[in-house]
Amino acid sequence: MMLAEHLNFFSKFIEKELGIVYSEKNYYQLEARLEEIAKIFGLPDIAAVYNKAKEGITGSFKQLILDTATNNETSFFRDTRAFQAIEKIILPEIISKVPPEEPLRVWSAASSCGQEPYSITMMFKELQQKSSFPKFKITATDISERVLERAKKGCYSQLEIQRGLSAQYMIKYFQKDTQDQWTINPEIRDLVEFKQKNLKENFNFIYKFHLILCRNVLLYQSIESKIDIINRISKCLTPNGYLILGAGESLVGLSNPFEQILADGMVVYRLT
Ligand SMILES: C[S@@+](CC[C@H](N)C(=O)[O-])C[C@H]1O[C@@H](n2cnc3c(N)ncnc32)[C@H](O)[C@@H]1O
Repeated sequence: MMLAEHLNFFSKFIEKELGIVYSEKNYYQLEARLEEIAKIFGLPDIAAVYNKAKEGITGSFKQLILDTATNNETSFFRDTRAFQAIEKIILPEIISKVPPEEPLRVWSAASSCGQEPYSITMMFKELQQKSSFPKFKITATDISERVLERAKKGCYSQLEIQRGLSAQYMIKYFQKDTQDQWTINPEIRDLVEFKQKNLKENFNFIYKFHLILCRNVLLYQSIESKIDIINRISKCLTPNGYLILGAGESLVGLSNPFEQILADGMVVYRLT
């Protein structure tokens, strides 16, 4: 079998499991990543990784293969316009609808190493200190166990912490462990519940969310898969709940149950 056929096999597996479409022009990336996996498992080449895969793709081998396909790029308060829209437009509207006995629920649906849900949590903590703010619960999910382990620890390098965080937030919400490591304070960390979840699979939450962030993950999906994920996400929202996508993503041209709202210059989606 030729290398191209091996790459084809893995790209089909990745698309079936994650919905991520690997175009042939990006096969060089897949090849490089499969070579790394070969090294990790002490295998001579990609053909040997393929032979192993033919015996079954499970456990840590499966997780590594799926990890090859994910891009975990993220940062604190990534795309500040989204956070401004949440604070100025979305929160005042949804808070007025949350019954007093219920928490405000937010889901970060592809949370990577935790910067996104921790940014929301820090924002809510700040607002809580300024005026009355409901109790809240933040759920954060990702397909990758590797990034979830990092997120749960809440440890970031100097470079990661500088991306998006003000010095004031660094000092207030993080502890500096070493020259190059900062750890988020337990008061913030313990407010986020991290779980593994594949957006391609059923969600089965027992409650609904007021706000869902699904940012910078759908752009790697096929159109059919995007429509399917968006429609299943919409079922996890409270009536008139909000969905926020990444800055370069939109629902234009996709059949969906949302109305588009311009919130402080940012397009967000409200369930109709
Ligand atoms: C580029 S990061 C975006 C992180 C964050 N939402 C942000 O905008 O900064 C995309 C994340 O989506 C996750 N991901 C990719 N496919 C997924 C899937 N099918 N289900 C759940 N998470 C997935 C990846 O593991 C990765 O951590």
